[in-house]
Amino acid sequence: METQPELAHHEPLSSVQAVSPKQHSPRVSAPAPPAMPIFGWRGNALRFFRNPIRFMADLRDAYGPVACLVQGKNPTLFFQPSSDRGRTFFGFGAEHNRQILTEVDDFQTRRPRGPKTWAFDQLSNNILTMNGEKHTQQRLLLMPAFTREHLNSYHNDIIEITEKMLQQWRPGDRRDMLTEMNRLTLEISSKTLFGLEPTADSWLLASKIRQMVDILFSPLAMIPIDLPGTPYRKLRVNLEDTAKSLQAEIERKRALGIIGDDFLSMMIAARDEDSGRLTDDELVSQSFIMFFAGHDTTSCALTWTLFLLAMHPEATAELLDELDEHLGGQPPTYQQTYTLPVLDRVIKESLRVLSPGVIFPRFATCDTHLGNFEVPAGSEVIFSPYTTHHDPAIYHQPNRFQPERWLSLKPSPYEYLPFGAGARKCLGAGLGTIQLKVIIAMIVQRYRLRMIAGTKINPHVNVVLSPKHGLPMVIHPQDREFAHSRANVGGFIHRMVDLEQATTP
Ligand code: HEM
Repeated sequence: METQPELAHHEPLSSVQAVSPKQHSPRVSAPAPPAMPIFGWRGNALRFFRNPIRFMADLRDAYGPVACLVQGKNPTLFFQPSSDRGRTFFGFGAEHNRQILTEVDDFQTRRPRGPKTWAFDQLSNNILTMNGEKHTQQRLLLMPAFTREHLNSYHNDIIEITEKMLQQWRPGDRRDMLTEMNRLTLEISSKTLFGLEPTADSWLLASKIRQMVDILFSPLAMIPIDLPGTPYRKLRVNLEDTAKSLQAEIERKRALGIIGDDFLSMMIAARDEDSGRLTDDELVSQSFIMFFAGHDTTSCALTWTLFLLAMHPEATAELLDELDEHLGGQPPTYQQTYTLPVLDRVIKESLRVLSPGVIFPRFATCDTHLGNFEVPAGSEVIFSPYTTHHDPAIYHQPNRFQPERWLSLKPSPYEYLPFGAGARKCLGAGLGTIQLKVIIAMIVQRYRLRMIAGTKINPHVNVVLSPKHGLPMVIHPQDREFAHSRANVGGFIHRMVDLEQATTP
């Protein structure tokens, strides 16, 4: 178990604590750890990328609610550098989340660092990187795909595809649940977003997108060497292949006149009826971002929920009691995804404790401030749902998985934000939640998944939090022997979840 904070060199905490973010006293510079010997700011950046959860927890403990990556300057880690005054800031806690997420003119999104190619330009011009009126207009165009009526029709696809997966599982099988959940949500995304049955091409597309995101959210994106075999070259080629595949899919649908219930069909129809709407380039980039934003986030949330349930027999017993009583072995209907309170609490608590969203950057467009700390124009400011959800000032025993805490808990939108908050709140929150509820209810009623003793669980964070080496589990019929699903596991997970406290029923 790794428990020691890495940020050993503390500035005096008194300078941080003396200034409340609510006072309008003179602005001060945010505290920061010193640069690492020899490597300078790059050393701090590497430590951050290696384990953002550990880095941010240590930073908050050592320096308080606003801190920088390093003393002095550093170029932005995620965005193209645009000012030599910029630095990387971290804002922790609900008040700073509120400021970053509501002051949308000062704290904007930007295109990430990346190759200067047509494919990168096209794919990175999507709703996640748009601001102001353009962002509002595109959100309005995309929203109709997520109305209740459409969610209801996606619900049937989710059941059908999950049932197919469950029929392939055999008692005694040992399977990596991260891979299983990835395949499952890939099939669901292919169907609901593009109306496609998964083919070798869609697997390839998904793995290219994953590789791209891994490179974009790592220090490798900062080394622009475009030679065969370099991560940068891989990124460039993957971007081009992805843009071409999506364009081909749009043309194929148009040529065949395929207009179904899926997201892309809806967007093509809207475009063809009114040429003032999404352009073809926008269709490509928005379907790319839907695929990316919807698929990995949901599969990681599912994987973590299966892990937490296996390690918490009492919570699983309570969940199965509810499912037995109301569903009797059937999947939840669309309506029931809103009305099963224990299932609701389990999903809420899983999205709190192992929140898939760990780091989200914003770009300061002007000289501004975070609380009482100066933020120069050109800086990047990072907020973290995960870190907020582990803040002891907000959650009692934050590392414990306790679904029953939701019986009385009513956090503000800036204290609990697995789907973000404000003007950029996740467009797919409804779809993601339905998937989580339907799939977990179907799995738990049919099978008991057992952890394997000695499994090491360490975090991997690109945008999304996943178990670095997957999550191997053994499949049993649902025999209610919940206590046997727990096992001693190792790794950094012990700093993320308090597993010793889990009790047997
Ligand atoms: C459990 C699953 C999911 C989680 C945890 C999640 C989380 C998030 C978070 C935290 C944000 C805010 C990012 C920011 O403020 O920078 C976001 C935005 C977004 N998500 Fe999700 N998401 C999930 C599922 C989905 C699904 C299924 C879709 C669509 C198919 C989707 C599409 C989007 C889009 C388009 C945005 C950008 C909204 C905007 O900028 O206006 N997400 N998501």
